[in-house]
Amino acid sequence: MADKMTVSYQKKPCYDIIFTNGFDDLRDVFSADETYRNRRVCIVTDSNVEPLYAQNVKEAISPSVKECQIFVFPAGEENKNLNNVQKLYAFLIEHKFDRKDLLIALGGGVTGDLTGFAAATYLRGIDFIQIPTTLLSQVDSSVGGKTGVDFDSYKNMVGAFYMPKLVYMNLDTLQTLEGRQFYSGFAEAMKSALIKDSKFYEWQITNMYEICERDPETLKQLVMRSCDIKRNVVEKDPTEKGDRALLNLGHTIGHAIEKASDFKMLHGECVALGCVAAAYISWKKDMISMEEYYEIRDMFVPFNLPISADGLDVDRIVALTKSDKKMNAGQIRFVLLEKIGKAVLNDTVTEEEMKAAIEELNFKEED
Ligand SMILES: NC(=O)c1ccc[n+]([C@@H]2O[C@H](COP(=O)([O-])OP(=O)(O)OC[C@H]3O[C@@H](n4cnc5c(N)ncnc54)[C@H](O)[C@@H]3O)[C@@H](O)[C@H]2O)c1
Repeated sequence: MADKMTVSYQKKPCYDIIFTNGFDDLRDVFSADETYRNRRVCIVTDSNVEPLYAQNVKEAISPSVKECQIFVFPAGEENKNLNNVQKLYAFLIEHKFDRKDLLIALGGGVTGDLTGFAAATYLRGIDFIQIPTTLLSQVDSSVGGKTGVDFDSYKNMVGAFYMPKLVYMNLDTLQTLEGRQFYSGFAEAMKSALIKDSKFYEWQITNMYEICERDPETLKQLVMRSCDIKRNVVEKDPTEKGDRALLNLGHTIGHAIEKASDFKMLHGECVALGCVAAAYISWKKDMISMEEYYEIRDMFVPFNLPISADGLDVDRIVALTKSDKKMNAGQIRFVLLEKIGKAVLNDTVTEEEMKAAIEELNFKEED
């Protein structure tokens, strides 16, 4: 039985998120809507997801649409770039896609971000649907309408706010994810709990075993509660003028570490390190206690997420944080914690505080 959540903008329903197992409900969505009959659909997916799920999606929607194409690009963050967006534009032109046609992003956050950006810009905007298949994209990136690609290895430097028409989550897809990718996605769920919901944080600890075992019912709750937090935040602030920036907890230093590692570390792993650094700065600013800092730090460990890394170049990472987008009049806008479940924006973090936090992340024997 599918569950549904609706994301609204300015109090008007904007798009639904469907939480289900399998692709049967997708078939029903398409067959129930006559308008799809005249539309071409392009499933955009990466080279790992294509052999797993592209045919299932094609079979579910083909009876209800005019034509269904599949565009495949090479998997990996290093391919979330304008080069692949251009290839997608060329493919769409070649197959005569026009404004009433539709893109489907089938894959993780890389596919969702790239497809969403292409949808926002092709012919000044065509519709797109998100079918997220990683934990990271289900708990976070497929909801909220942030799209974009990396540029010259600067993360998400080119992008647009562009809302999907539907987010369709087939929770079964989480079972084929590689372990490291699964835990990387969990970091964003932990981040959501730290920002807004201490009860959800406690729930994650209580259900640690079931989460790591990927128990289907537990994963459904994990994904739905994370989406509900994100929905609440993005409904109030769709274009990140204020509170939405709280969702960037762990991302300022996290993005810099991701770039310094040449994207060898996964996004969620870097978010985990960034959250530990933000908690450390919060402790040093007397916003949380030492006990809370160590509790937050150590809670990433059972989820196989890093709390330290080898050979972090402190000066380079600080320099990289300055080229991140999260600046406010030249000052880095940090997200810090007042307690577990309450994040705040802070413009007063100094370079020295940042350096101390990154130094603390550097691997030491006792880690
Ligand atoms: N737009 C947003 O609001 C937002 C928020 C957070 C993160 N992001 C972005 O999301 C990206 C990270 O997303 P990600 O972690 O999903 O990365 P990803 O899309 O690269 O997917 C991770 C890996 O898993 C593979 N994969 C995907 N689904 C699979 C499945 N069901 N079974 C087996 N393998 C599968 C992919 O091919 C890839 O190799 C980053 O680029 C980050 O910047 C965007």
